Amino acid sequence: MERTLSIIKPDGVSKNIVGEVISRFEKNGLRIAALKKIVLSKEEAGVFYMVHKERPFYDSLTTFMCEGPVVVLVIEGASAISKVREIMGATNPANAAPGTIRKDFADSVERNIVHGSDSLESASLEIPYFFSRLEIL
Ligand code: RTP
Ligand code: MG
Repeated sequence: MERTLSIIKPDGVSKNIVGEVISRFEKNGLRIAALKKIVLSKEEAGVFYMVHKERPFYDSLTTFMCEGPVVVLVIEGASAISKVREIMGATNPANAAPGTIRKDFADSVERNIVHGSDSLESASLEIPYFFSRLEIL
């Protein structure tokens, strides 16, 4: 059993596909252990994506992430971290496999609908960034 953090990014929320994205996780045997809709500040988005601070896309990415509400989720299940990444598809929708969320819905490498923790270490930092222990069921 593993837990991972996912975010339905502002483009996913504004396209009204929150249910569709969650349904894809559930249909693949994963469970939603926590969920909320929030608006990130530029600073909160900046801390969340701190690992990309030196990248040329950092400013644009953090502006995008706070342009509107996001839905943050803790997803639970066997191999949840890699499973969620597989269901999401490659970062750039042009390279994403058919049937993945990004292939089906993303407009660009930046506006790519969904985030998923990329390792056990990331998940263990990202989950408590958004949720207290009491909120994860
Ligand atoms: P994420 O962290 O959101 O799950 O995405 P990822 O692991 O697939 O990709 P990552 O390399 O961690 O990049 C984080 C997010 O930054 C935006 N990005 N823009 N303009 C660009 O070249 C570029 N590259 C990445 C995307 O929103 C990407 O998901
Ligand atoms: Mg990443």
